[in-house]
Amino acid sequence: MSIVYLNGAFLPAEEAKVSVLDRGFIFGDGVYEVVPCYQGKPLRLKEHLVRLQRSCDAIQLTNPYDAEKWTGLVEEIIANNGGGNLAIYFQITRGVAKRDHAFPQDTTPTVFMMANPLPPPSQTQIDDGVACISMTDNRWLRCDIKSISLLGNVLLRQAAMNAGGLEVALFRDGFLTEGSASNILVVINGKLLAPPKDNLMLHGITMELVLELAAKQGLPVEVRKISEAEVKSAEELMLTSSGKELVAITQLDGKAIGAGKPGPVFRTLYKLYQDYKTR
Ligand code: PDD
Repeated sequence: MSIVYLNGAFLPAEEAKVSVLDRGFIFGDGVYEVVPCYQGKPLRLKEHLVRLQRSCDAIQLTNPYDAEKWTGLVEEIIANNGGGNLAIYFQITRGVAKRDHAFPQDTTPTVFMMANPLPPPSQTQIDDGVACISMTDNRWLRCDIKSISLLGNVLLRQAAMNAGGLEVALFRDGFLTEGSASNILVVINGKLLAPPKDNLMLHGITMELVLELAAKQGLPVEVRKISEAEVKSAEELMLTSSGKELVAITQLDGKAIGAGKPGPVFRTLYKLYQDYKTR
């Protein structure tokens, strides 16, 4: 049985209840994080907590816990759920209040955490890559906030699924932003490219780690705007996220990317990532 954390207590998921007036339920007024854990150890927890703080600051929500308290809770929820490979999800909402768009005064934030199994991408996804479709990024202009208001992302992901793809590659004003729940990296002339970390995409912890591993390996890396035409004619594409790690995109809109197989840069980075995560 899965044990969750809600407002100060650990309890079975079935027993955890939140008020219907919670602003997370009514407005999607809250922020969240997903931290991958391997063999019971969180990966890059410090970076996830820094991003959580940034998200809280961006929506003027007081983070109820400091990094030490969060770290302790993460360790506890891992232990309570048997360790192993887990995705630790946590969210903070602005709490329970009479429905009014403006912030309520003196409301206690709701804090929720759960630990879900974290299966690695399938062998077929690793060996063959995945198919994606391209779409216009029609979300709001603060995609750098890890907000629980994910309707835009949900609709885009469903559109990809309906078209037989795993993810969407999103473009705003002709330039790559990210996927619905992942970042996208591009290989052109052997160089690994990432879009600028601005307000138009989530600053992915996995992407940052992959860029770091690439640079350490001596691979050329550049952060710059990447046009739709460049993405569509790239040698390689790959997506990164805490859930999917690193997966090659080998088909975009039904057309092969590169040779239609995971390329050499992906294979190098995949190996580096696996080595890093098991260390
Ligand atoms: N999603 N972009 C978006 C919109 C995301 O939702 C995510 C992660 C990422 C990748 O970020 P990171 O590498 O830090 O996981 C990029 C999580 C996993 C989710 O919503 O489940």
